[in-house]
Amino acid sequence: MVFIGPMGSGKSSIGRRVADMLGVDFVDTDSEIVKTHGAISDVFTNHGEAFFRDLEEHVVQDALVSSSPRLVALGGGAILSAKTRELLKGVTTVLLMTNEETVLNRVNLDKRPLLREDPNAWKRILDERMPLYSEVATVTFDTVHAPKDKIALEITNWLRNEHTR
Ligand code: S3P
Repeated sequence: MVFIGPMGSGKSSIGRRVADMLGVDFVDTDSEIVKTHGAISDVFTNHGEAFFRDLEEHVVQDALVSSSPRLVALGGGAILSAKTRELLKGVTTVLLMTNEETVLNRVNLDKRPLLREDPNAWKRILDERMPLYSEVATVTFDTVHAPKDKIALEITNWLRNEHTR
């Protein structure tokens, strides 16, 4: 199972709750990158976005090929990789969706290099990526209109049904 979606849509926070309820491991690919390479904003500053995307593609691939049951949350731009999108086609992929107003109120902009300079970039980036999210999503959940615990429960129930069908 994989969670995808734009920055600030709740992939990590809701993903962790869902993994707990399902009793599976939770892997956050951004956190894996931080463990080996330090803060993502520093990776962008010191090595550039292309370097980050390359790293991300490898980390995502490693996370997805594991045979142990797990829930993997990807960074918002991971779906830019055609290789990653190909891998996702064989996997239950949950798209979490939010809106600009909610994100700009909630996220830590210092940790989001793509938004730091221009907070209005969120919507533009989403518009660019929406076709890619849609291409790989098995299902979409809106994370704006209910508390995280409620959304996590809804997704957990959906995943349980999906996997017993
Ligand atoms: C990015 C999203 C971030 C992180 C990096 C780039 C993006 O992850 O991978 O800052 O391109 O959308 P979150 O979606 O977890 O914020």
